[in-house]
Amino acid sequence: MCGIICYKGKKNATEIVTDGLKRLEYRGYDSWGIAFKNDKLDIIKKVGKIGDFYGASKLKESHVAIGHTRWATHGGATEANAHPHISCDKKIAVVHNGIIENFQELRKELEKRHKFVSETDTEVIPHLIEENMHLGFEEAVKAALKRLEGNYAIVAVHEKEEKIIAAKKGSPLVLGLGDGEYFIASDVPAFLKHTNKVIFLDDEELVTINKEIKIYSLKTNKEIKKETSEIKWTLEQAQKNGYPHYMLKEISEQKETLKRAINQDEKEIKKIAEEINKGFGTFFVACGTAYHAALTASYIFSKITKKHINVVLASEFPSYEHFLTEKTLVIPISQSGETADVLEAVKAAKEKKSKIISIVNVTGSTLMRQSDVFFQTNAGPEIAVASTKAFTSQLALLTLLAYACDGKFEEGKKVLEKTAGYTGEMLSKEFGEQIRKLAAKIKDKEHLFIIGRSVNYPIALETALKIKEVSYIHAEGFAGGELKHGTLALIEQGTPCIVFASDDDNKKEILSNAMEIKARGGYIIGISPENNEVFDYFIKVPDKGGLSPIINIIPAQLLAYYLSVERGHNPDTPKNLAKSVTVK
Ligand code: G6P
Repeated sequence: MCGIICYKGKKNATEIVTDGLKRLEYRGYDSWGIAFKNDKLDIIKKVGKIGDFYGASKLKESHVAIGHTRWATHGGATEANAHPHISCDKKIAVVHNGIIENFQELRKELEKRHKFVSETDTEVIPHLIEENMHLGFEEAVKAALKRLEGNYAIVAVHEKEEKIIAAKKGSPLVLGLGDGEYFIASDVPAFLKHTNKVIFLDDEELVTINKEIKIYSLKTNKEIKKETSEIKWTLEQAQKNGYPHYMLKEISEQKETLKRAINQDEKEIKKIAEEINKGFGTFFVACGTAYHAALTASYIFSKITKKHINVVLASEFPSYEHFLTEKTLVIPISQSGETADVLEAVKAAKEKKSKIISIVNVTGSTLMRQSDVFFQTNAGPEIAVASTKAFTSQLALLTLLAYACDGKFEEGKKVLEKTAGYTGEMLSKEFGEQIRKLAAKIKDKEHLFIIGRSVNYPIALETALKIKEVSYIHAEGFAGGELKHGTLALIEQGTPCIVFASDDDNKKEILSNAMEIKARGGYIIGISPENNEVFDYFIKVPDKGGLSPIINIIPAQLLAYYLSVERGHNPDTPKNLAKSVTVK
């Protein structure tokens, strides 16, 4: 949510920062801005995506620049609200990700002496720094930070100072170390083209970047030494590589990413499986798509290991905290590892001394660093806002864990390897074309319903989420038995309804549910290994002992993608959304 990229070095900073902003667009794309320095500070701000701005390459050359792409929280998507924000003397520019909770009080106090031009919480920061400039730039930034309540990742520059200063509390910030050049960003893909050597900043740390970098603890005010890590992601993984959109590329990668997800340290998985078996309560905690992976996995745990797992939306976790003890296992699941609600749940669980075992994709993320144990889903960078490959990777890893809890790690691996193989069949051109044709047929429908039973109920929820996210068609997922308890009233002649009819114990019931919908005029799209007379449109999926939720979600992801494209949208950057939700 909001992306920051800054550069100081020998190369052209405006080019590097504008390119980095394009790579960070998945974090927010309401507006963008850049401040760059020569003998004075130049500021450019625009509403919309930087990708749509053709003048970016013509910006004046500079060796110091800070940039920001915004997902609006305080104040609409206007040029005035876009970052960087500046002080009254126009000498200090600041970019910020997070929320300053006490900004109203601060603004009231500062308005007596400073002129505000935006509605943002951020604008208090440059004015606070300006107030304290008599202390020198670095001390002025520190003094300003002392006044802030809430979360921030900030970067500040001053027209007359060589240094860039950055600090963080609650929002992510990572340093990239090049050859005599430095980067600061919200996320690694922003500068991966230039370096894979990074330092992850922790909360309440401040960094000054000049000819060299210095990191200080804001708590002790002392300089600290931090480890440099090497990121294994390649630039190729973070590029479209000939695909028209990241979403399609990421859907297409799933045969490989599934294999990587189950390539885990066997000993560690078995150890955690033992702990789940011995544990006094296990909670899966997640948001959005990751929550659907958790919910699906809870069915798998119930069936395979006869174990009940509590599945809680991270934003609702505060209502469950009372049950936590030091014997509870909390398993947060998150692609980014930066989702504010997930991190808040982890904080609460840690206070109760519960053990945190996370399932996370992004290396070095806050969640990873705050966990007692972590498993990486190894899906590589996921850039499209709507999560696809991360979902199936989470599901595969959780399934492996379920099998391990039942002492069947090897069997679990085999089932998942087989499933990965089957997904390949659905990633062919012909299969995609069949789904595209379906999308073209139903693209103008206003409502769409999806039903599934047991493990395929959360898949129905995830399908609905994918379709809503990228095509903006109203879609709702239901457990097969539930539609008749109210929503059946909405079925009209031709209302499309997707039915997941896998070869399992629920097949007869789900087909009966499909009949009930068809009898009311519904247009039935069957996703199943076998055709059935109730289906008006049949999508054949493989199912010979594979894991049906992973298999079934692939045509659903493709349908969401093609619906978006057919309706003329960009599936990678859906309106109003951001990939990494770093505010509560
Ligand atoms: C955002 C994204 C979703 C994602 C959710 C949770 O809403 O748009 O795709 O599922 O956050 O993100 P996480 O990084 O914690 O998995």
